[in-house]
Amino acid sequence: MTWQSWRTAWHDALYGPDGFYRQADGPAGHFATSAQGIPGGGRLLARAVAILAENAGCQRLIDVGAGRGELLTEVSAVAPTLQLTGVDVVERPADLPEPIDWLTSPGGADLPDALAGVRDTLVVAHEWLDVVPCTVAEYDGAVWRTVEVDPTGVERLGGPVAGAELQWLQSNWPSDGLIGARAEIGESRDAAYRALRSRIDNGLLVVVDYGHLRDSRPRRGTLTGYRHGAQCSPVPDGSTDITAHVAMDTLDARESRELVRQSTLFDRLGLHTGPPPIELASQDPPAYLQALADRGSYAQLTAPGGLGDFWWSIGPVGR
Ligand SMILES: C[S@@+](CC[C@H](N)C(=O)[O-])C[C@H]1O[C@@H](n2cnc3c(N)ncnc32)[C@H](O)[C@@H]1O
Repeated sequence: MTWQSWRTAWHDALYGPDGFYRQADGPAGHFATSAQGIPGGGRLLARAVAILAENAGCQRLIDVGAGRGELLTEVSAVAPTLQLTGVDVVERPADLPEPIDWLTSPGGADLPDALAGVRDTLVVAHEWLDVVPCTVAEYDGAVWRTVEVDPTGVERLGGPVAGAELQWLQSNWPSDGLIGARAEIGESRDAAYRALRSRIDNGLLVVVDYGHLRDSRPRRGTLTGYRHGAQCSPVPDGSTDITAHVAMDTLDARESRELVRQSTLFDRLGLHTGPPPIELASQDPPAYLQALADRGSYAQLTAPGGLGDFWWSIGPVGR
């Protein structure tokens, strides 16, 4: 029986040679995000990103964790002058519109060497950090221990958490001192965020994910799996996505960075539209139906308790 820390087993299961994210069906084969799988959602997300890029004077957009290029394909339609590059662990998808450039990445916390010296660019990472593996820890009544897992998903407690991870835990994850409390140590996500930021000379770094802040850390953790459209137990065998919410407040302490909920941001960007005038139904039926559909996707992407609660971290770099 091979026991590994969740951080190691999770990385191999998602980004190893037969890893979950290297498989042909891609993320869209298993779950929906704001970028794909929700009618009209990708277009709305693309409009939000394009407005942020325009407001920041960015001529380029790089999507890290681009899936199969779904968001970039939508952006190419709503902002045709933006230069677009996708970054993901697979080769460039064959059906991507021609002008969209692509970089293949190692995966997880690791980024491709070619992603460097980025200028005048909005870099977006939508649902990337939640799949950057982190150490899962459990409190045994005396110390925090690393949770280990076998290939079938059975867990046991390993050695005490130490070093930078313990420091992160003590600084950022208030404990109730109860036996069985769990924590997902965000140190690896903070490092991944810093690494991505370091590749940008000048632009805007936008990281979007579900997550928590210091005053709302989940006491029993959030580690879970997704397979073929359903939530399931996280099993590190390559068959299942493995994800945990992101400590969004610890990524970067700079005051210039803004953390805002998706619902608040979309409202502020003017993406909200009222009901279409009923006369439009007879004057221009396709436009009327489109306006109704846009309202539906807006409602889904801003729903409280759902996608509307996603956090957007928006940080200028070198400006
Ligand atoms: C949860 S999916 C999100 C996909 C897409 N952004 C969306 O919102 O639908 C996470 C994606 O991040 C990719 N990914 C993970 N680590 C990466 C890395 N270091 N560089 C580039 N892509 C990465 C995975 O391969 C996967 O496609």
